[in-house]
Amino acid sequence: MTSPYGLTEEQEMLRDSVRDFADVEIAPIASDIDRREELPLALLKKMAELNLLGLEVPEAYGGAGADMVSYALAIEEVTRASASIGLTMAAHNGLVVSPILMFGNEPQKKKYLPPLARGEVLGCFCLTEPQAGSDAGGTQTTAVKRGDKWIVNGRKIYITNGGYAKTAVLTAVTTPGAGTKGISSFIADCDQPGFVIGTTEKKKLGMRASNTVEILFQDLEVPAENLLGNEGDGFKNFMRTLDGGRIGIGAMGVGIGQAALDAAVKYSRERKQFGKPIGEFQAIAHMVANIATDVEAARLLVLHAARAKDAGLPHTVPASMCKLFASEVAMRASNSAIQIHGGYGFTVDYPVERYFRDAKLLEIGEGTSEIQRLVISRELLKLG
Ligand code: CAA
Repeated sequence: MTSPYGLTEEQEMLRDSVRDFADVEIAPIASDIDRREELPLALLKKMAELNLLGLEVPEAYGGAGADMVSYALAIEEVTRASASIGLTMAAHNGLVVSPILMFGNEPQKKKYLPPLARGEVLGCFCLTEPQAGSDAGGTQTTAVKRGDKWIVNGRKIYITNGGYAKTAVLTAVTTPGAGTKGISSFIADCDQPGFVIGTTEKKKLGMRASNTVEILFQDLEVPAENLLGNEGDGFKNFMRTLDGGRIGIGAMGVGIGQAALDAAVKYSRERKQFGKPIGEFQAIAHMVANIATDVEAARLLVLHAARAKDAGLPHTVPASMCKLFASEVAMRASNSAIQIHGGYGFTVDYPVERYFRDAKLLEIGEGTSEIQRLVISRELLKLG
């Protein structure tokens, strides 16, 4: 039988193996790590053995050489079990490995990709700053060339994986006053003096087992050869990186949506009120139908965007569309799943409250829903 999603046998095998892994290794600890706000490093090691930290990296650099569709399927399955772990994986692969693959020169790829792909080191993506959130071009971090080094100063916030990362990609202004064309991107080693880990975000609304920190650059010395891409191309490099990253966030939305659907179906069949399973009441049954339809549509949008990227087609708009839709689906699905669970859904005895808390980040991280609507509409309206 052919796959309803038009997947190859290889893609289906990968999805199934990640699903099995997530069911056995991630789902049982998901609520515990959320409660303890702890990134389970031992789990990341196991994920690395499955190549989950280097899925898209060519085998020559130590990765699995998989395509974007496979990556999206893997992110969905991991997130279905734990969105925090899905986010950790998405930031590492989609925002660190990916720009080095796309913009790195051969020596940079040889040096940085194998340890990242084998999961020996974790990566972090340093873009957001206190004054540069949605306005990513408002970067205030600076990099000044001194001899064969760049001296970097500034502050980045909300950096996923930042407390554990050994490799960072970052943006900094290299030509002040030149707007987005004055921004360059760099690869930095996080164990260098001047790469300072600041405050760790605690008691976040969701994604509590993922690591979110502030990073301070205090006269951080970055070797000249660590300029990533051409000088002045950093903003575009990071925008192109986010085009791929947003497909990963879309896949996370599908993962949370599917988890909410699974929980809603299970509870609707088990829970009895007025002498029968609540799923027999049309109000509940229709909620389940709506969640399922939403999740399926989101999955197809994600696959569409991933296929565009795999085909080398422009995918800025498909990526924003899938991210926008799937993140809002995750919110709707988890909200309905709580409603179906009633009072029980409001407690930590059931996972649906975690899905709801985690889903909110997807409407914010890697570009808010408002920014996705801006990206999509600007392309359509071409108003400049
Ligand atoms: N691909 C290639 N080039 C692109 C591009 C893309 N997707 N988007 C923009 N560019 C180019 C433009 O073509 C333009 O080039 P020219 O100057 O040659 O014409 C240049 O970049 C500037 O583009 P804009 O004029 O569109 O820039 P803007 O200042 O208006 O910003 C924006 C556009 C879409 C709002 C952008 O700033 C944006 O996406 N903001 C959201 C940022 C974001 O997603 N942040 C979350 C990061 S996640 C994180 O940091 C935390 C973590 O650890 C996960």
